Amino acid sequence: MTLDLEAPTRIAAVGSAGPLAIRPRRLRRTSALRALVRETRLHPAMLVAPLFVRPGSGVREPIASMPGVARLSPDVAAEEAARLAELGVGGVILFGLPEAKDALGTGASADDGIVQDTFRRIRSLELPLVTIADTCLCEYTDHGHCGPLAPDGSVDNDAALTRLAETAVSQARAGADVVAPSAMMDGQVAAIRAALDAEGFSHTAIMAYAAKHASAFYGPFREAADSAPAFGDRRGYQMDPANGREALREMALDVAEGADILLVKPALPSLDLVAAARARFDLPIAAYQVSGEFAMLAAAAERGWLDGRRAMLEAVTAIVRAGAGIVLTYAAGDIATWLRDEQ
Ligand code: PBG
Repeated sequence: MTLDLEAPTRIAAVGSAGPLAIRPRRLRRTSALRALVRETRLHPAMLVAPLFVRPGSGVREPIASMPGVARLSPDVAAEEAARLAELGVGGVILFGLPEAKDALGTGASADDGIVQDTFRRIRSLELPLVTIADTCLCEYTDHGHCGPLAPDGSVDNDAALTRLAETAVSQARAGADVVAPSAMMDGQVAAIRAALDAEGFSHTAIMAYAAKHASAFYGPFREAADSAPAFGDRRGYQMDPANGREALREMALDVAEGADILLVKPALPSLDLVAAARARFDLPIAAYQVSGEFAMLAAAAERGWLDGRRAMLEAVTAIVRAGAGIVLTYAAGDIATWLRDEQ
């Protein structure tokens, strides 16, 4: 068979001149037809639920700006992971609120740290989901920046690399299948890969927050994780949201440094980057629907301004349509429940 390259032009000509030969609405007529031709389908296994863990036991402390999301003590977080696994959710990513903070963020790499404790509990349940650690220091430093400070108040990149590598190793030791460096320090993937390999964790994967913008949409997270910078902002290390080519350069660097999965964040404001990442790299592409994206939809739904469920499903479907095979979302449990109810 030879390809008729002129056909589209001819069809267009017929369509405009004569009777309507081409009627895309034919395939939208019934819900069965629509289901048959649907290009993008969500599946719970592609979703990752972020969990915030705090000290204590039996604690579920709601987060005001994120309705339905709570800070959990390790025992409750393990129960929540079991519930998510039961729903078929693909993974959980843990963020920790430590008992105490210091200039170096020591709590991030403590073998008995809050996140490490929770990973051990989850591991003991042998759940069929992937355990992911957010590898950063901002929740553990008393100044709220993502690495130790240099004398001039900027974040010391190379000192941060050592701390991030120590943190990743302790997270892997506690049972994280994947570590996800999110500090946007230069060379963080290479430093973590080398440290993991040296400590016997060559099997631990790295999901690199490769293109992470200095975004206003992280606002509610900083309340949830108590990680707002005490002074200044993160624009000296996170990327300018105006830059797309630079984002692709960051991704290429992370691939070269040994990343296993590339993550783009925030998601909806960066669909162009998700699509470009999908086209350019053959690694799995993840996107993080961040706290502000969740809060916007939740707040509008609370006021009755949006159908929260439909808007959430549409947003996550758009992120997948753009090219993400993995979506980190605070609605992971809800979406898995809705998908099950639709069966
Ligand atoms: C840690 C980190 C942040 C988020 C994920 N990892 C906060 C930040 O960079 O300020 C944000 C996630 C969200 O908003 O849901 N550096």
